[in-house]
Amino acid sequence: MSLSPAHWTPLLTTRALGRAVSHYEHTLTSTNAILKDMAKQGAPHGSLCLCECQTAGRGRMDRSWSSPKGQGVWLSVLLRPALKPEEAPLVTFCAALAMAKAVRETAGLQAGIKWPNDLVLQGRKVCGILLEMGFDAQGLFIVCGTGLNVRRDAYPPELAERAVSLEECGCIPDRGAVIAAYLQALEEAVSAVEQQGFAGIAAAYRAECVTLRSQVQVIGAETFTGTAEDIDEGGALLVRTEAGELRRVLAGDVSVRGVMGYV
Ligand code: BTN
Repeated sequence: MSLSPAHWTPLLTTRALGRAVSHYEHTLTSTNAILKDMAKQGAPHGSLCLCECQTAGRGRMDRSWSSPKGQGVWLSVLLRPALKPEEAPLVTFCAALAMAKAVRETAGLQAGIKWPNDLVLQGRKVCGILLEMGFDAQGLFIVCGTGLNVRRDAYPPELAERAVSLEECGCIPDRGAVIAAYLQALEEAVSAVEQQGFAGIAAAYRAECVTLRSQVQVIGAETFTGTAEDIDEGGALLVRTEAGELRRVLAGDVSVRGVMGYV
C-alpha cells in the first residue's frame, strides 16, 4: 500500500503532528537532512517528511541506515517543543515508546525497547531513532527520525545478526496505519514530557525497557560491563559495575550491548 497522505491522513487524530506532510514517492537522501533544511526555512511544529527509499539514511553514531524502497517506514517529524535544550534528548524516549505502541496496535507485536531508543524483536533491531537538534528564529527545534523495518525477508550478512523486520516476525501491517498511530502516540508522549519531564513517561518506559536488569557492555570513551539497574530522572542508564560502583551512562555518548548478544 502506498504511503500517500490521502491514504492515511483520514486516520490522524493529532493536533499538530503530521498536519503538514512532505511525501516523496521516489528516492531521497535522508528525511532527517531534508527536514532539517525545511526547519531552517521556518517549517512549522509537526511537519512530517517521509519517503519510500533513502540513499543516505543516517543512523546514530555516524552510522548509515539501510532504507530500501518500499520496505519500511522512513520518516522524520519536526518538533518545536516547550522544552529546555538540555531536556530535548528526552524526546528520544518518547519516540521509542510511541513506535512500540504503534507496532503493538497495528501489527500485534510486542517490541521491547533497548535503551535508549532501539526497538527489538526476537533479539534483533526492528526500529532505530535518530534525533538531531538545532536553533532558529523560533528557538529550539528537534528533527526526530524513525526507521522501522517492515518488509524484508533477508538481510545482507553484515546486518543479519542484528536486524529484523516485522515481516520476519509474522506480520506486515499497513504502513499508513503505523504512521498515524505513531504520530498520535508521539504527540501524547511529548506533551507528557513537556509537563512533567521524564517522570511523565517513566513508568511506561521502564515497563517496556528490556535493558533493565540485564547484563550490558557499555562502549564509549571507556568500555565496561555491569548490570543495568535503573533509569534516572534525566533518562540516564544506571549501571552497576562488577566492582560495585554505580555509573551514570548518557544516551548520546555510548553504545550499549547485551553481554550475551545484541540485546
Ligand atoms: C539508528 O542508528 O538506530 C537510528 C536510525 C534512524 C533511521 C531513520 S530512517 C528516517 C530518518 N532519516 C534518516 O536519515 N535517519 C532516520
